[in-house]
Amino acid sequence: MSAICLSCSEKKDIGTRFKIPKIQKDVQVKVAVIGGGKIGEAVTRGLAKSHEITKVTVTKRNISTIRSLQSDRIVITQDNQKAAKESDIVIISVKAGDAKHVLEEISEFVSKKIVISLMAAVSIKRIESTIPSAKVVRAMPNIAATIGEAITAYATSPKLSKKDLERVEFILCCFGDCIQVPENLMDAVTALSGSGPAYIAILIEAMVSAGLKVGMPRDIAFKLVTKTLTGTADLLSQKQMHPAELRDTVTTPAGTTIAGIYELEKGSIRTSIMNAVDAATQAAERVAKKFEND
Ligand SMILES: NC(=O)c1ccc[n+]([C@@H]2O[C@H](COP(=O)([O-])OP(=O)(O)OC[C@H]3O[C@@H](n4cnc5c(N)ncnc54)[C@H](OP(=O)(O)O)[C@@H]3O)[C@@H](O)[C@H]2O)c1
Repeated sequence: MSAICLSCSEKKDIGTRFKIPKIQKDVQVKVAVIGGGKIGEAVTRGLAKSHEITKVTVTKRNISTIRSLQSDRIVITQDNQKAAKESDIVIISVKAGDAKHVLEEISEFVSKKIVISLMAAVSIKRIESTIPSAKVVRAMPNIAATIGEAITAYATSPKLSKKDLERVEFILCCFGDCIQVPENLMDAVTALSGSGPAYIAILIEAMVSAGLKVGMPRDIAFKLVTKTLTGTADLLSQKQMHPAELRDTVTTPAGTTIAGIYELEKGSIRTSIMNAVDAATQAAERVAKKFEND
């Protein structure tokens, strides 16, 4: 079931931002992004970089905050119905609380179209109950979409054909990489990679503070820490290396690294991270239940 989007992975070029996938050279698509908030804006910017996407229509009630997005390829409007009607693929990026209203509004304009919901906690079944004739995809990117470096996990309704799936991956690859998962993992995805940038930001903040504590200027510590993080992640993923192997490679007897690791283990860093993701998953499940019963 799960499959890394090869169209992205194959041309992974570390250091290049905004990879522009070209898996369907013949396809020219118009996309609507309903809800131009933090994630909607990030996604819009990524989509507009693809030559295969001729128009991105982004909607918001208060459009004054996204006027700077307007370009020859990006149209801004308050009209969700017009946006959905004039697009081939519709992305929903409003908060879950606004979902019902927005889905009802666009329902007559999304028949047989692919609708990609980025909303946490709203199931495919729930979405299909309002837009039954659409081909629904539930996807969870993260805020790294802002620089085209999100990881987006997605689950789909069985209605989607192989060609539809290719189109979905094409869209999701406009703002990072993607991976297909069974829908029952989506709350865990929300907790792990959706909320993940917040955990990583805390880790970076702590390491920069550690640099300050041992006498390092903040800007130098920041550069060292952020590049250490991206470099380590790229190394592990490119070499397909187990993290424990990398840790052992850089840990020598009675050396500096084991002295640091000893303190991390005393602070139960692994348990804290596992508890954090567990708690976030439970929170996502609680919110999902609330929306299922509404
Ligand atoms: N932020 C993340 O890192 C992230 C990651 C993955 C998924 N998500 C999901 O993405 C969704 C949006 O999150 P966000 O962080 O981007 O929130 P956000 O910044 O509050 O964006 C939501 C946007 O929806 C707009 N909106 C609300 N009702 C609307 C309507 N009827 N028509 C058109 N636009 C409407 C709001 O603008 P107006 O009030 O001006 O209309 C707002 O800008 C959530 O469901 C969240 O679970 C977020």
